[in-house]
Amino acid sequence: MPALTPVNPERQRKKNRMKIGILGGGQLAQMIALSGIPLGLRFVCYDPVDDCCASTVAEHISADYDNRKKLAEFAGQVDIITYEFENVPASCVRYLNALMQEKGSAVFPGENALHATQDRLREKQLFEKLAIPTPAFMAVNHAEDLEQAVRLLGLPLVLKSRSGGYDGKGQSVIRNEHDLHEAKKAIKHDQLIAEAWVNFDREISIIAVRSRSGQTAFYDIAENTHQNGILSTSFNRPDDAMQKKAEMLAQRLLDELNYTGVIALELFQTGDQLFANEYAPRVHNTGHWTIEGAACSQFENHLRALLDWPVGSTRSIGYSGMINFIGELPPVSDYLSVNNAHYHDYGKEPRPGRKVGHATLVAASQDSVKKMTETLEAQNRGLARQ
Ligand SMILES: Nc1ncnc2c1ncn2[C@@H]1O[C@H](COP(=O)(O)OP(=O)(O)O)[C@@H](O)[C@H]1O
Ligand SMILES: [Mg+2]
Repeated sequence: MPALTPVNPERQRKKNRMKIGILGGGQLAQMIALSGIPLGLRFVCYDPVDDCCASTVAEHISADYDNRKKLAEFAGQVDIITYEFENVPASCVRYLNALMQEKGSAVFPGENALHATQDRLREKQLFEKLAIPTPAFMAVNHAEDLEQAVRLLGLPLVLKSRSGGYDGKGQSVIRNEHDLHEAKKAIKHDQLIAEAWVNFDREISIIAVRSRSGQTAFYDIAENTHQNGILSTSFNRPDDAMQKKAEMLAQRLLDELNYTGVIALELFQTGDQLFANEYAPRVHNTGHWTIEGAACSQFENHLRALLDWPVGSTRSIGYSGMINFIGELPPVSDYLSVNNAHYHDYGKEPRPGRKVGHATLVAASQDSVKKMTETLEAQNRGLARQ
């Protein structure tokens, strides 16, 4: 028998692994890295937070997003850059893009996709331009504009900061004269948008992927519920009547933005009409179910798209329900004792309103996944109240 070649540690170390840079080191970066490691990829995340959760699975550069020296170091180490959150400063992405372009690479998704979504007004104007229905809206620059917004949009309406908001932060609902009075007193800056309140039947989202050479695929839509503006549960909806319409709307965005990567489009449904709420140029919380519930997850497909590798199948494997763990984690044994339940602990410190983990349940029927998910979710809420 021939002798085995001994492992050469030097050779192992030098082996030229493709390195992906991720701006942000939160759970999305962590899940991107977890999906790419088996493909031979290695990751560097850039996040000012010292013990950010992706640092368990990626090299970590801990510096501010305006630290040019560190950003240049980051760009020098990686073959391609992506981001896990859309509030990353535009100047940082512009700088990195220029550096990456010098070596024939870039930041994906492109700056145009980020630019439109960093301002809710620009985002809604983009929807209008693309004939993607969206709730009626109006820019609010002064307290007086609010009166006009009420006349134009009616009550209730929702007032949102145009930039920087997430998980329902920076939003308030104006339901009556009293709320209006309070909101007028509270307005401190001129970067707000008022939106007509949509009395939706349900909230859905569609996650799409498009590779650098244009190969496109869509996941089954997800039906989503929120608690206090934060995503609570997502269920995939195979064979849903709204699937084709949602795909058509997402396709318009992909085409317009000449998009590369995974994108999520959040929609309100009333009757058989869809209204776009917002889009996210990244992997999305309403797509976490795809890790166990689809042939190829949104995270892996994001990487495949960036690298122009073949896009993986987006086909659902049965029916999935995803539960977000907000504020604290339920005991892992509650989930591991359930068949086909998958528990994800992001390794974050518990804090009210913080997403610290999630679980996905996969079942053979819509009914059973719904029952299982709702039981566990109610149990979580019970725990949170204790
Ligand atoms: N115009 C609206 N009508 C009804 N509900 C809304 C409206 N805008 C936001 N919401 C509710 O608030 C949630 C969070 O708002 P969203 O605009 O998606 O902000 P975020 O960036 O925080 O996710 C939505 O998922 C939806 O449940
Ligand atoms: Mg949202």
